[in-house]
Amino acid sequence: MRIVLGVGGGIAAYKVASLLRLFTEAGHSVTVIPTEASRQFVGTATWEALSGNPISNSVFDAVDQVRHVRLGQEADLVVIAPATADLLARAASGMANDLLTGTLLVSRAPVLFAPAMHTEMWLHPATQANVALLRERGAVVLEPAVGRLTGADSGPGRLPEPEEIFAAALRAAEPSTTFPAHGSLSGRTITITAGGTREPLDPVRFLGNRSSGKQGVALAEAALSAGASVRFIAAHLEVPPPAGVDLTVVETALELREATLQQARDCDVLIMAAAVADFRAQSVSDTKVKKRDDGENPVIVLERNPDILAEAVEQRRNLGGPAVIVGFAAETGDDEGTPLAHGERKLKRKGCDLLVLNRVGRSLVFGQDTTEVTILDAGGAEPETAAGSKSEVAKVVLARIAASLGASN
Ligand code: CTP
Repeated sequence: MRIVLGVGGGIAAYKVASLLRLFTEAGHSVTVIPTEASRQFVGTATWEALSGNPISNSVFDAVDQVRHVRLGQEADLVVIAPATADLLARAASGMANDLLTGTLLVSRAPVLFAPAMHTEMWLHPATQANVALLRERGAVVLEPAVGRLTGADSGPGRLPEPEEIFAAALRAAEPSTTFPAHGSLSGRTITITAGGTREPLDPVRFLGNRSSGKQGVALAEAALSAGASVRFIAAHLEVPPPAGVDLTVVETALELREATLQQARDCDVLIMAAAVADFRAQSVSDTKVKKRDDGENPVIVLERNPDILAEAVEQRRNLGGPAVIVGFAAETGDDEGTPLAHGERKLKRKGCDLLVLNRVGRSLVFGQDTTEVTILDAGGAEPETAAGSKSEVAKVVLARIAASLGASN
């Protein structure tokens, strides 16, 4: 793949050398376009040596080849890292006052921005408006990482790690024939819960479940590829959380409930992929529960956890909320009905708009990479079955959500 790697003028430019390496080692051909300001941080010799391609940031270099047009036309992917506030502003307003912004205007390839700047600059309404505009136009703008910044300050504004940008860039470059279409969820905010909650019994023990979080991560990646902003609420995961999301980490069902109900207030879609423990210990011991000499076994009394999905539906009724609420269910079927019949009853009982039904047999879906689901629609549309890797299934689910969002507009 031919990649244009635009480097903005920020201290994080040095980290982009590792990103460049990841691209070249994966066999991609990279042309680096550093802005004038970025050369204060990393010199052109570094980029030339690592990319094996000549460097320029002037529209007037090699004028005979009309570089600003050719680079943009030939690129399969444009990655901007670090995307400074200034660069985001120039890109959003369609300026073309250097080779990089000129290339951005010419290119029709997927574009990914990896922002890095001070927290105040990132949170400023001007920057946020520029980011929203770029996302609306189909660009992927990663959320900056939270942590220590150049000075003593810390907050959102750090450049995401090169490995994260690399993974997100490859996702952004996926062909537009994949579902859902590139950019079809631009400007949408999707809250996804994932993983399994853990309910403490004492300081060292908990009640947990086998959810790996893989399906939730795949959903987040599909949503990001389609241009959505993703809020990811992670209970215990067996896999790393996806890059480029606004991440909230929780442990218990009650923590998940609080984060979900709060974040669901102002988003477009809520996807409840988390495996929520239906019960928690009525009382949690402050100290480790010890074996007793008298041979008595401890008794754990359980109490019901709230049904977060049903509460999110209720909250939407009272206060407004996501246009589309999606639940998940794993059903085996029994004397009282097939998995489909159970799924349909659950869809009604929970009151959500879509229910993604996993038919589980004795071989568990938990932790596996492939799955088969049926998507049930409260709006009465025909159930849709999708099978394949969790990421293929995620794309079908997101395409269905995009269609529901379109219909609800
Ligand atoms: N869920 C939830 N809060 C809970 C339990 C489940 O929000 N306390 C959500 C899950 O995230 C999932 C959906 O509800 O999206 C279905 O979960 P499931 O456990 O299958 O449903 P239950 O209502 O517990 O039904 P049952 O135990 O009868 O299978």
